[in-house]
Amino acid sequence: MESSNRKIVYSAAQPSGNLTIGNYAGAVGNWVRMQKEYDCFYAIADLHAITVRQEPSELRRRTLELAALYVACGIDPEHCALYVQSNVSAHAELAWVLNTLTYVGEMERMTQFKDKSQKHADNINMGLMDYPVLMAADILLYQADYVPVGVDQKQHVEITRDIANRFNNRYGETFRVPEPLILKSGAKIMSLQDPARKMSKSDENPNASVYLSDDRDTVIRKFKRAVTDSESCVRASADKPGITNLLTIYSVFKGCSVAEAEKEFSGVGYGDFKSAVGETVADALAPVQAEQKRLLADKGYLGGILSSGAERAFKAARKTLSKVYCKVGFYRGE
Ligand code: TYM
Repeated sequence: MESSNRKIVYSAAQPSGNLTIGNYAGAVGNWVRMQKEYDCFYAIADLHAITVRQEPSELRRRTLELAALYVACGIDPEHCALYVQSNVSAHAELAWVLNTLTYVGEMERMTQFKDKSQKHADNINMGLMDYPVLMAADILLYQADYVPVGVDQKQHVEITRDIANRFNNRYGETFRVPEPLILKSGAKIMSLQDPARKMSKSDENPNASVYLSDDRDTVIRKFKRAVTDSESCVRASADKPGITNLLTIYSVFKGCSVAEAEKEFSGVGYGDFKSAVGETVADALAPVQAEQKRLLADKGYLGGILSSGAERAFKAARKTLSKVYCKVGFYRGE
């Protein structure tokens, strides 16, 4: 990654489960497209992941699997800093400072906090509530201009902007105020079993989400079982959320627009349409899975990518953190 005057992009995903095609459509696919044009930092957000209980050995395994998946999806470690969040201590350090500019009330109002508190009622820990502040620290450390995310993370990028402005107003210009980058199509892939809900890594119904690790038969079977409607006309519209979702997924994996997909399937029955979507997704996933497997067989190579990514990230993060410590008045020696 050459240092330049290029705009900076930051994003991350949690190693808290297998990535879904929603994560790919809303985030990772977009990250790949941005890497040539911008200076990109892409992290594996393990500090965020422990806000819900994780089995330590699984967390470690998933972290490496996610790193391999990023690369298999096309993230080029020569062009971006690909690293594990906990390997750069500045994230936790900046989060502490930003905590002092963030109000409990606004954290309690965050949609994801409310959802996760309901889902993990036996473990509403401080980390769960503080999650958006750590996200703000991630983004602001790198002076990111853009944050490519799915719709569900938009509120967190907005609070990041608020926190950045608050810090800048109190201590003087320090942080660049980032913008969320949300795709017009694909930023919210819905569950195959309930198209009113977002497709999620942690859905209890295994047929609701298609994982990037699903084998061909599983992918095709899940699409065959997808909930649609009784009309039997393949077109995108607000009153046809199931079909609209399938058209969106098809367009992402085929690389066409939703309108082109609609045209391609005009007059085709739902059964054939669902099979075509399943086949297309399975075809796209096969090479990614093969590459991920190949990479995971070479842990030394992956480890090397992550440690040089962490080194690059550390250099950039340290600059911002020193500035922040100086601005808030921490003694740094004479
Ligand atoms: P995570 O791991 O839940 O998801 C990773 C990315 O995938 C997007 N996404 C979706 N997009 C479309 N349709 C869906 N059904 C779908 N589900 C998930 C998410 O919006 C996200 O962009 N908090 C973040 C990780 C994070 C982060 C950051 C992101 C930590 N620090 C700093 C950006 C900047 C998260 O849990 O993502």
